[in-house]
Amino acid sequence: MDVRTAVKSRYSVRGYRPDSVPDETVREVFELARLAQSGTNNQPWHIAVVSGAACDDLRRRLCARFDARDSGERDFAAPADPLPDALMERRRACGYSYYATMGVERSDREGRAAIARKNFELFDAPHAAFFSMPRTLGISGAVDMGILLQTVTLLMFDRGIGSIAQGALANYPDTVREVAKIPEDNGIVFGMSFGYENPEALINTVRMPRESLDDIASFVS
Ligand SMILES: Cc1cc2nc3c(=O)[nH]c(=O)nc-3n(C[C@H](O)[C@H](O)[C@H](O)COP(=O)(O)O)c2cc1C
Repeated sequence: MDVRTAVKSRYSVRGYRPDSVPDETVREVFELARLAQSGTNNQPWHIAVVSGAACDDLRRRLCARFDARDSGERDFAAPADPLPDALMERRRACGYSYYATMGVERSDREGRAAIARKNFELFDAPHAAFFSMPRTLGISGAVDMGILLQTVTLLMFDRGIGSIAQGALANYPDTVREVAKIPEDNGIVFGMSFGYENPEALINTVRMPRESLDDIASFVS
């Protein structure tokens, strides 16, 4: 797949089949992704992959915390609310398009919570990955982590593997540490669920819009 096609057609997958991605394919993706660029080549990242029974165990533990209405404590602070108006508007629109597709009214708190819970169900994916970096790093490290994320995402997409980045999976780092092997001095920046897309999952029909180029860029010559 050429880069243009991959960038234009990739989307986040929120419903998976139970079958696992072969170990060698998972390893090959991360083997290539480690070639991503980073500031001063410091490669601040660590990726902890959790599959099979360990993934099911983690799913149960994360859902238990969500069900207990435990808001958790992130290693790195979540974006401060309120977001700037335009960003807040896009965030709301993002949520509403999922509710609309799933037939959940905006006023239906339980229905909305059920959709939020899917994050911790790992969207039924057979694999999760946790992206961590030293806790002392700030924005420069986060930039590097984002570059790695997109590299992994596109490599997976090229192999027919769906994925979704999940800030939500940074909510319960202590629970993740009980199952995943995270280096001691690292903080979890985000997680990812991945596997083969369930073509019957309605939620996978959602496509998110983007702002126009002139709204997000300026050109001077
Ligand atoms: C860093 C990052 C964190 C994200 N966290 C979540 C999340 O916790 N839950 C979720 O459902 N989607 C999450 N997403 C997916 C975004 O909502 C999605 O990328 C965006 O709406 C654009 O849609 P698309 O990926 O289908 O193009 C995250 C994406 C990124 C890049």
